[in-house]
Amino acid sequence: MESRNQTTVLEFLLLGFTERVELRGFLFVTFLVMYTMNLLGNGTMISIIAGNSHLHTPMYFFLCNLSLVDMCFSSVTVPKLLSNLISNSRTISFSNCFVQLYFFMFSGGSECVIMSIMAYDRYVAICNPLHYVTIMNKKVCLSMSIASWIIGLFHSLLHTLLVYRLSFCKSNEIQHYFCDLAQMLQLSSTDIFINEIAIFVEGSLIVMLPFVIILISYIRIITTILKIKSTGGRWKTFSTCSSHLTVVTLFYGTLIFMYFRPSSNYSMARDRISSVVYNVLSPMLNPFIYSLRNRDVKIALKRVLQRKGSSSSG
Ligand SMILES: *[C@@H]1O[C@H](CO)[C@@H](O)[C@H](O)[C@H]1NC(C)=O
Repeated sequence: MESRNQTTVLEFLLLGFTERVELRGFLFVTFLVMYTMNLLGNGTMISIIAGNSHLHTPMYFFLCNLSLVDMCFSSVTVPKLLSNLISNSRTISFSNCFVQLYFFMFSGGSECVIMSIMAYDRYVAICNPLHYVTIMNKKVCLSMSIASWIIGLFHSLLHTLLVYRLSFCKSNEIQHYFCDLAQMLQLSSTDIFINEIAIFVEGSLIVMLPFVIILISYIRIITTILKIKSTGGRWKTFSTCSSHLTVVTLFYGTLIFMYFRPSSNYSMARDRISSVVYNVLSPMLNPFIYSLRNRDVKIALKRVLQRKGSSSSG
């Protein structure tokens, strides 16, 4: 009862990337370029798919969903980082920190689920092509995409509320560029046992279950592809899922690298880099991977550019 003179935190300091003054200009330009390319690339992807009726298939609808989540995912963290870098400020208010935490976990969780749905879609297309249209019908696709958003919603609500009940009076310095769950738990002066259980049970479920679905889908895809006699046929089939495989590898590769490393190797700097890869770099690259490696998207893009060219010249 005696030492109740602790002050509660009213704002947090985001120290990742802002402590090296000489790097600020460089970091600002780099993140601005990556973020702009993310919005342009994903925005273009959504409008190309929406405007081309021959791309109105489950795969492209889910790609649209992924582009939308990708834009959200980076928009939660990067604008705040940019404004802090340019204004020499490091603060984020208590409530904004929780808003950030909520939307970060929401878009991150939905991204994992959408990626596993996309893997399942490729699995049905390659291993069960005759029943593809009946299995992946409109109703199923719509329910799966709604499910991905709802799962993300509950996932982030659970963890945000569990963090919200903690008190923060030790320190307000977050050694990261956004309010991330792990960093907030470190700052808490309350017991975080329940949070850890929730992360262990629900958190690993929402990250690992999609991963297992992706893994099984690809094992079955690859065994099906290996059974194809002609090399040309093999490549042709593989090319329909190679973009998704690249995107998944980039995203899950960094996630796994970040969470499943020996704790003796723990390094703030490396955590920050992996966060940038899956939160900023990979969402920015996804539309480019899809448009470079996918004939249908390339053709649609060419058509849009030609239409633009001819309408401006004539
Ligand atoms: C997401 O996917 C569903 C199911 O295919 C589709 O109906 C919907 O239009 C997509 N939404 C967006 C924003 O791309």
